[in-house]
Amino acid sequence: MTAQPKRTLLVTSALPYANGAPHLGHMLEYVLTDIWARFQRMRGHDCLFIWASDAHGTPIMLKARQEGITPEQLIERVGAEQRRDFGEFDISYDNFHTTHSDENREVTYEIYRRLVAGGHIRRETIVQAYDEQARMFLPDRYVRGTCPRCGALDQYGDSCEVCGATYTPADLLNAVSVVSGTAPVQKESEHLFFKLSDFEPMLRAWTGGDRLQSAVTAKLGEWFGAGLRDWDISRDEPYFGFEIPGETGKYFYVWLDAPIGYLSSLLQYCRRTGRDFEQYWKPDSDAEVYHFIGKDIVYFHTLFWPAVLAGAGYRPPTSVFAHGFLTVNGLKMSKSRGTLISARTWLDHLPAEYLRYYFASRLGDSVDDLDLNLDDFVAKVNSDIVGKLVNIASRCAGFIARGAAGKLASTLADASLQREFAAAGERVAALYEGRDLAGALREIMALTDRANLYIDQQKPWLMAKDPARAAEVQAVCTQGINLFRVLAVYLKPVMPKLAAGAEKFLGLPSQSWADAATPLLGTAINAYEPLATRVDSAAVKALLAASSESLKPAGVPAAAATDQPAKGAAKTAAQPAAPPAELSIDDFMKVDLRIARIDSAELVEGADKLLKLGVDLGELGKRQIFAGIRSAYEPSQLVGRLTVVVANLAPRKMRFGLSAGMVLAAGPGGQEIFVLSPDAGATPGMKVK
Ligand code: 2FM
Ligand code: ZN
Repeated sequence: MTAQPKRTLLVTSALPYANGAPHLGHMLEYVLTDIWARFQRMRGHDCLFIWASDAHGTPIMLKARQEGITPEQLIERVGAEQRRDFGEFDISYDNFHTTHSDENREVTYEIYRRLVAGGHIRRETIVQAYDEQARMFLPDRYVRGTCPRCGALDQYGDSCEVCGATYTPADLLNAVSVVSGTAPVQKESEHLFFKLSDFEPMLRAWTGGDRLQSAVTAKLGEWFGAGLRDWDISRDEPYFGFEIPGETGKYFYVWLDAPIGYLSSLLQYCRRTGRDFEQYWKPDSDAEVYHFIGKDIVYFHTLFWPAVLAGAGYRPPTSVFAHGFLTVNGLKMSKSRGTLISARTWLDHLPAEYLRYYFASRLGDSVDDLDLNLDDFVAKVNSDIVGKLVNIASRCAGFIARGAAGKLASTLADASLQREFAAAGERVAALYEGRDLAGALREIMALTDRANLYIDQQKPWLMAKDPARAAEVQAVCTQGINLFRVLAVYLKPVMPKLAAGAEKFLGLPSQSWADAATPLLGTAINAYEPLATRVDSAAVKALLAASSESLKPAGVPAAAATDQPAKGAAKTAAQPAAPPAELSIDDFMKVDLRIARIDSAELVEGADKLLKLGVDLGELGKRQIFAGIRSAYEPSQLVGRLTVVVANLAPRKMRFGLSAGMVLAAGPGGQEIFVLSPDAGATPGMKVK
């Protein structure tokens, strides 16, 4: 290994909201960050992994209220669950604090003071949806109603999931507050804005070149093109957060103090350990700072955050690494389909380390989504780890134990093969460094195959039949064990438990990257104990069953998990549910519900949420209906099936044509839309009573 100067690194994962225990979508990011941090430390660098829980905002305030506890109690409880799950996933963080802390208040106030002093804060009176019953202003996602463009019911206050229109809550028809179920009013309030536009030259320079991933750079080009808008950083009471100094009843928006948690958690850590906080964040710092985040929060981390840091006299991050979302068996994580798997449920059924391996095998330096295909998971772990990697050690260990009194030979049988393995170290390291974990694992598995081939060719089990060849058997198995040792070192950032088991087996102290270059000769090794066991697909079935069981909707209206605006790629946010409005029986009787047969289904150009259906209503004839169900159905899945439609809905003229009726479906949206079907025997045109 070429000697590298020792680097000082600070890495972070996005701060998890303090209103729920982590699920596998969260763990993907933490595992990625952790593997990278472990790799850097193994290379001899000083790498801190610092984060916290993101504790402020309306959803946390409402969730605590719903549970009849204080937000502080909620943060405490969830924080304990988070720490426990992270620990069991072997996330090697150095500090996990919370943004609702004295340190975060201190740093947030100081940053705000500097932003004000620099002239980067301005005031503006804005009009917002207000819930008079709950006496609170409503984030856009807490208002639901009918889309003003396509008429889709029950849409968020900022965008329509059916036709993609974006608007403000004031534009919604029949708007309802998710908090109280009443119609919101429009009310004025003065807000504080961070002048993002002051930082455009700095941001253009910082985001330029190849600092960021190409997909992120492309997105930034669009955002710059559209113009940078100043950022509203204040919220009116009631709000759970930090009060803004010098203002009455005003709080910092959670997204201002959330990333400041990166600094304040580090500050707490430095105060506890005597480290130098300033070395990381001073303008001329030579420490490297990297934020690992999901692709949905790129705007916050590549525009707002570097600008806030610059405005407050701190250095910007060295880079921001975005990743895609996790799907399970090809589906977006969803509670009702049993594809939202909590970290805890995984731990109850399967080893965390195997998921770390699988995630790594699918992670590269891109923002593409990643699928956890559970059949593939079982096959991959059983083949790569149990069938190939651990097999090298188990094949060789017995011969060393029985035939050589547990001692390795003092020379290698094939020194050049060993050199090949050692030389691969820089190649594998470069892949880890570039966060191409899948590439690193491919290299490691190719070496694993090579090691198994070596043993297959040497056939120590045949040699061992001849007592005269005992030394040869020892040499070949010493070689095999040395190859295995190198592989365990290369895999250690991903599978730290397996690597620790290998170290114990080989009688070695904790291994660094460089250790792999020196062969292990003439030393005693310990009795081999299985380092990995096969995954049984029954465990996967039980995992899925437990996920759909434990995650059935709770029956209480769930608060939105986030009050950040919806963006192109949706997060797995719980959907706020408005209490249903009452309807008289007379009104209900006016609705003509009929069985319909779907004769045709087509995509609609320019409306990626809609399908154009040709339906047969028997005695009422045939007609065309546009339905917002494209995200859940391929057209071919619908043709020929019976469903229920509202037959007497006034025909609506849409951009794409006339829609004469409405197909009934259930579910929150996205892939979770379920078109209703009658039992066998129903025929087109029958009245539904
Ligand atoms: O999107 C989220 O889950 C946020 N809690 C992430 C915050 S990251 C940072 F800015 F604090
Ligand atoms: Zn719409």
